[in-house]
Amino acid sequence: MRLAADVIRRGGLVAFPTETVYGLGCDALNPEAVARVFEVKQRPSFDPLIVHIVTRASLDRLVETISFGDHRLMDAFWPGPLTLVLPKREQVPDLTTAGLPTVAIRMPAHPVARALIREAGVPIAAPSANPFGYVSPTCAQHVVDGLGDRVDLILDGGPCPIGVESTIMSMVGTWPELLRPGSITLTEIREVIGPVVRAAASRTVVAPGQLPRHYATGTPMSILGAQGARPVMHGHERAGLLAMSAPVYADERFCAIEVLSPSGDLREAARNLFAALRRLDALGLDRLYAEPCDEQGLGLAVMDRLRRCAVPLK
Ligand code: TXA
Ligand code: MG
Repeated sequence: MRLAADVIRRGGLVAFPTETVYGLGCDALNPEAVARVFEVKQRPSFDPLIVHIVTRASLDRLVETISFGDHRLMDAFWPGPLTLVLPKREQVPDLTTAGLPTVAIRMPAHPVARALIREAGVPIAAPSANPFGYVSPTCAQHVVDGLGDRVDLILDGGPCPIGVESTIMSMVGTWPELLRPGSITLTEIREVIGPVVRAAASRTVVAPGQLPRHYATGTPMSILGAQGARPVMHGHERAGLLAMSAPVYADERFCAIEVLSPSGDLREAARNLFAALRRLDALGLDRLYAEPCDEQGLGLAVMDRLRRCAVPLK
């Protein structure tokens, strides 16, 4: 951990586990380090990073104001998988926030992430540790597969317990707005702050996690009409199935089937989602078919990721 913190302080890049997905971390206040993160991920510079902290006291250096609603959300969900978009202070580099007047901040709960930030003594900017647009990493091997030796150090903390990215909320507009559905559900947030609007898909990009195609496999994917629906396949198509729960029928037309949760538990399904997508993608099949799930609770985040994965390339 001392070595990792040292790498961060010297402007290097450390991949580390969080409760959601693995992050590719650097000193959030060092523009050169942040530039390397963009380069390594091949991330477009219009896509701002999330800054990770361990104490609320560090907000003083990073943000101008914190609304009452933000405070309530922090009280309810920090540390944990909730990211808040707040008006930034000048000393947060423009590169970190892609020139936006706001900065996205999250206080992770994962002990390895927390130890790293604490030991480094600086806020850590970290996007998911995958090449831009690809499926997020939920274990250290995924980081090795995607970024390999372009990262200075990888901290292996085992598989991520949640498996989908943090929920992103912004209170800087007229209404509290959900920018990215994640593991903290809309219902949980509404219980704390009341009405929340969902960001319009057509809006100019404030969160490229909202880009139509993102979290995407190389293999084209289609979403089935319902759980248990049988796809119409073309000719000799070699296809894989991503099933939400144990399939109700045996379809021998599939070359491979990944079951996200045999008992149909959404938490388990979310935890397994990205690893299953990567395994199916590695088979070099012609097409993947994914079963949908109910867009309730965590299901909203799962369907958001599946839809963005299923958007055709052109
Ligand atoms: O769970 C997570 O949030 C993970 C772990 C590593 O913490 N991180 C993550 O980072 O998912 P990334 O870079 O893959 O996604 C960050 C999202 C992007 O869609 C970005 O556009 C949005 O946060 N974002 C960052 N700063 C923003 C801002 N100032 N306003 C609006 N959206 C912002
Ligand atoms: Mg990402």
